[in-house]
Amino acid sequence: MADPDWWRQAAVYQIYPRSFADSNGDGIGDLKGITARVPYLQRLGIDAVWLSPFYPSALADGGYDVDDYRDVDPRLGTLDDFDELSAALHAAGIKLVVDIVPNHSSNLHEWFREALASPKGSAARDRYIFRDGLGENGDEPPSDWDSLFGGSAWERVTEADGNPGQWYLHLFAKEQPDFNWDNPEVREDFLKTLRFWSDRGVDGFRIDVAHALAKHLPEELPSKLVLPREDDNALGAHPFWDRDEVHEIYAEWRTLFNEYEPPRTAVAEAWVHADRLSRYASPEGLGQAFNFDLLQADFDVDQFRAVITKNLAEAAATGASSTWVFSNHDVVRHATRYGLPAGGGRRGKGQDGSQWLLDGGHAADVDAETGLRRARAASLMMLALPGSAYLYQGEELGLQEVGEIPAAERQDPSFFRSAGEQIGRDGCRVPLPWTAEGPSFGFGPGGSHLPQPSWFADFAVTAQDGVAGSTLELYRAALALRAELQTAEELEWIATDDASVLHFARPNGWQVVTNFGTEPVALPAGDVAIASGPVEGGLLPADTTAWLVSAKA
Ligand code: NOJ
Ligand code: CA
Repeated sequence: MADPDWWRQAAVYQIYPRSFADSNGDGIGDLKGITARVPYLQRLGIDAVWLSPFYPSALADGGYDVDDYRDVDPRLGTLDDFDELSAALHAAGIKLVVDIVPNHSSNLHEWFREALASPKGSAARDRYIFRDGLGENGDEPPSDWDSLFGGSAWERVTEADGNPGQWYLHLFAKEQPDFNWDNPEVREDFLKTLRFWSDRGVDGFRIDVAHALAKHLPEELPSKLVLPREDDNALGAHPFWDRDEVHEIYAEWRTLFNEYEPPRTAVAEAWVHADRLSRYASPEGLGQAFNFDLLQADFDVDQFRAVITKNLAEAAATGASSTWVFSNHDVVRHATRYGLPAGGGRRGKGQDGSQWLLDGGHAADVDAETGLRRARAASLMMLALPGSAYLYQGEELGLQEVGEIPAAERQDPSFFRSAGEQIGRDGCRVPLPWTAEGPSFGFGPGGSHLPQPSWFADFAVTAQDGVAGSTLELYRAALALRAELQTAEELEWIATDDASVLHFARPNGWQVVTNFGTEPVALPAGDVAIASGPVEGGLLPADTTAWLVSAKA
């Protein structure tokens, strides 16, 4: 019988479909491309794949602007291709998680087109959030709120008679109108979508902006000057972030998930106050939530220890398992972040991750060598933590952020809506290098929809496959051993003499040591099974992690 708890300590690999593998040479990654790489995923040793959106989309926001929730973008394939991919993954023992984007549709969704063609006050408009403008002619937006990608969060429409009319709310790009979750049709339609993919054999869901669905918008909208920040949201009192009512929606979804055998899983993307994250992760709700604390920490022993301690305690209190993540399609790759002068933690003024970017990615102030050394140490440590590990395509290659993308080739709406002030997220979405040569480094037989730099050759799969000490082989070895550490969800801290060392024990005699300092430190007794850097003479170098196992009696 299928294990209902498979997700608790799973290693989940995020695929950004347009940038993974291109089967037909049009420069865009597709489902057949992924299916052809299932042996690679199996050899990597992951437990599940999370697919970022592959639905029909005009790509105003990389596919997070969905035209149709129950179909495949023709450029990426067909529903049959989806079934083939799902079957190939399952045959390889890999689960499949898909992305659900419930806060907003795209402006090309049939419901939004119907809303535009329908009059003010119509049932079609009620599925979204339409308001009259302020000022004499209604030509000022209903509030001064900013979209997360810059500019106003309201866009004015042209009515059927050709005159300027109402405004609609879009927390993200103007091509992403927010749904009205008070509308029963919206609720029903998402239940239908969740069933559609669950019936097709999908094992779980990643829920986009899970904390924004429920909105309470009074007649007079408060100014942005009095609104709390997204992740410091005055505990449920914000008009759209993290309202308590949002959990009623997820309770309904949980009932649906539990009708399946094994129950479908879900993980929330919710940028909320740390004290409130566990509501999303509760067994009566989505069951799991991303914990972005480690991603926002500097490469610093005290910050890491504090984040791990706190999150394990929270997971234990709610019955969820903890999640760990360093990289995804929204943030600068951690091999680059950790090479930044300030240590790699959160910087800038962003609310959704898109602004944690540096100027230029691979720019002169990035020490790529240090960044990679630390990323390897951090990832090896993370793969030994209890709970599930979320990996982002390319991190197993030690890939750096691509900084040198010309403005004309950028795609991220945050770059355009902020007039370049936010550099955007394209640098972590550049198609993967599979081979050191070829027109798109083996991404496909044609080009690549975002330009790949020449240094990608050094990170190619073929350049690392079978090469001792390569980042790819490090991930493979760690993932292969991981099951031996993950028999129970326990972690025991071990006191160290050196304040820059993190040391913990896991079940079955495993110990994990990370040296965050600048000098080598002596390793405890035990056999080194795997290390992120060269371990000689019983010494663990700076910026390095080792897994040790007690000598068997
Ligand atoms: C979070 C997604 O991860 C990001 O890529 C997207 O732009 C926003 N949600 C809006 O859907
Ligand atoms: Ca293609």
